[in-house]
Amino acid sequence: MSARFHAPGFNQRGGVWLAIAFAMALAAACQPSGPPSVTATPPPPPDGQRLFRQNCAECHGARGQGRAMTTLGAPAPSLVSSEAALRLDVATISSTVRAGRGRMPPNLSLSDDELTAVAQWVQALQTADAAPATAPSHAGSDASDP
Ligand code: HEC
Repeated sequence: MSARFHAPGFNQRGGVWLAIAFAMALAAACQPSGPPSVTATPPPPPDGQRLFRQNCAECHGARGQGRAMTTLGAPAPSLVSSEAALRLDVATISSTVRAGRGRMPPNLSLSDDELTAVAQWVQALQTADAAPATAPSHAGSDASDP
């Protein structure tokens, strides 16, 4: 008779289902479990030293020591004196520069990242100046520094 089912066909279907189940399990196992990995390369950190020289040194001096005379026609204070170092943390420096203070005009051109980099460089200058106990104090007195 023609109604003869292939027993092996049944087994084949079972094998197909097994393969599908296996594929689904594999797909489930491959789902990312954590947050998607970051593939974009982050931009290089802004160079705080360069930014300081370009934006701050003309008034505050190359090492943040302050200048007796500036383009404002007035002095700019030291950012690295021990008194200033105590008061000026990164957040304070950033917000002061952004908002301006007294005669210092607000800086609206630096990005937040750049402001942070500049502030961190100021902190580095503070630390460098504080480190050698025998270093002469030049706070606010160096008018010849470019
Ligand atoms: C055009 C000159 C000028 C430039 C440029 C300038 N400053 Fe100033 N800055 C001043 C003056 C003047 C003061 C004092 C303001 C006042 O209190 O009257 C001051 C004050 C500050 C203070 C507050 C100091 C304190 O003791 O509280 C910080 C911090 C500071 N500047 C950081 C910076 C940084 C960082 C930059 C560069 C991004 C910068 N300044 C650029 C002139 C300048």
